[in-house]
Amino acid sequence: MLTIALSKGKLLDPSLEVFRKAGYSPAGVITDGRRLVFPCPEIGITFLIVRPTDVPTYVEYGAADVGICGKDVLLEHDSDVYEPLDLGFGACRIAVAALRGLGSRNRLSSKIRVATKYPNITEQYFNQRGVPVELIKLYGSIELAPIVGLADRIVDLVETGSTLKAHDLVEVELIARSTARLIVNRASLKLKHPAVTDLIRKLRGVGVSSRSAAPRRATRIVKRAGKR
Ligand code: PRP
Repeated sequence: MLTIALSKGKLLDPSLEVFRKAGYSPAGVITDGRRLVFPCPEIGITFLIVRPTDVPTYVEYGAADVGICGKDVLLEHDSDVYEPLDLGFGACRIAVAALRGLGSRNRLSSKIRVATKYPNITEQYFNQRGVPVELIKLYGSIELAPIVGLADRIVDLVETGSTLKAHDLVEVELIARSTARLIVNRASLKLKHPAVTDLIRKLRGVGVSSRSAAPRRATRIVKRAGKR
């Protein structure tokens, strides 16, 4: 039996679709209810539905053998997990945005204020450029911060760009691109090797792109993304 942590929200339906296409039928997984645990003994999988940012934690500590979450989450959290597959869906980018016409505005103090739910990515990105910033950690609705004067810029996910546009914000810098990734607990890859490799093989078979099974840590990836 494999335990698989799925991200609640935008990635949930496409994640379940990938399992369906791979020949697993996640029957009985209800995506709009309050239940968090869905045992599917007929396919040998128990699905957990958790907050996207918590998926790497469940997988790193072995509470789940496998997880699906966005690359943005992996970049933000330095989790020691294998990342064998880029699932391709959920494409978006992590970008710096500012109010239209104010992209190069700095505060009178030397530091610019940046609001974000990605403090680690943001800090590393600006540090690498030698730009001093004051980070303001928010948990959602980041686009509001520049409008009310809480921040000069934001670092947030951009998918269609419609949320930025609706708030008269423009992307000023691209930090990294993100898609949904399959991640695997290091011990599970050894102890449940046949089941895990079979799952990877089947998911790869539905047309997703593969990546090396080397452990990937956020620090290294952000450094590479910052060199673009
Ligand atoms: C994400 C992100 C942006 C929006 C971008 O928010 O933080 O707000 O999606 O999508 P778009 O470019 O297609 O408009 P989410 O819906 O996850 O909610 P949150 O702001 O509460 O985090």
